[in-house]
Amino acid sequence: MKPLKVGLLGLGVVGGGVWNVLSRNGGEIARRAGRSIEVSRIAVRDMARARSKVGDAAAITTDPFEVVRDPEIDIVVELIGGYTLALELVREAIAQGKHVVTANKALLACHGNELFAAAREKGVMLVYEAAVAGGIPIIKALREGLSANRINWLAGIINGTTNFILSEMRSRGLSFEAALADAQRLGYAEADPTFDIEGVDAAHKLTLLASMAFGVPVQFDRAHVEGISKLAQEDIVHAENLGYRIKLLGITKLRPDGIELRVHPTLIPEGRLLANVEGAMNAVLVHGDAVGPTLYYGQGAGEEPTASAVIADLVDVARLQGAAPEQRVPYLAFQHDAMADTPI
Ligand code: HSE
Repeated sequence: MKPLKVGLLGLGVVGGGVWNVLSRNGGEIARRAGRSIEVSRIAVRDMARARSKVGDAAAITTDPFEVVRDPEIDIVVELIGGYTLALELVREAIAQGKHVVTANKALLACHGNELFAAAREKGVMLVYEAAVAGGIPIIKALREGLSANRINWLAGIINGTTNFILSEMRSRGLSFEAALADAQRLGYAEADPTFDIEGVDAAHKLTLLASMAFGVPVQFDRAHVEGISKLAQEDIVHAENLGYRIKLLGITKLRPDGIELRVHPTLIPEGRLLANVEGAMNAVLVHGDAVGPTLYYGQGAGEEPTASAVIADLVDVARLQGAAPEQRVPYLAFQHDAMADTPI
């Protein structure tokens, strides 16, 4: 079978990880996908840096539109982030009939409804495992592993930066500012760390989880969002003295009158599993009516964990590229139209 030809937009931390993992595990990945996956074109800002990483193994350009319009490319992997250029590129890729993999939670939380509708119209897949909880296959779990269930609720630690800050403040007595500086140095934080500390990044991800769990459109603007910037060291100490840990949780619940969507600091009894998720790790607890509670834990950010999720999406697309469009519909958000009007 012909290889799946990938156009990669961005060769930063995650793009570099995708390149490395595909280079290292390409044989196994090809066996699982039923065909090989080849990154044949890459768009970057710095040609020399990219060349030093990939040599002559892929064609490199500084014009990402060249990649999305290349008729040889089957699938575009968007790893540049932000809403402006990324939005134009994803729109154009879909218009060109290409499948898209993205790790861009902000883009999908704010423009997902338009992009999913365009992808559905064109019969292409728009997949985003890497946008939520890094390497944890939580989108796949909701879409496939739990497909027998009515999801009742889910609650998760889905921002590594804030979990790292809270862990460092508690275990090492660091100030908020010192812990944030460490998170930035370690590469966990967003380009604008306000998104992390004010709960916006977690709300982007929660919006996508709720959409997949409950089959509703993406409604980021309806979420209650509160971050950790107002927490002081004393809050953490008082919580600990009372037998609790403070975690920034994203919570979504199906209620008789609609769906709750909220991100805020939460007191969790110290014996609970979620209370013991430390550092930049993520964890999502999902409750389904048939299965009961299930817990997903792993690295929510970083080069190869996020690359692992991007490549899992590439494998799905490689397997399904020739399938009938209706078989690919579950790979878009909110496929259960019956609940599309449920209030949030
Ligand atoms: N800034 C994000 C986090 C990166 O800290 O979780 C991964 O989405």
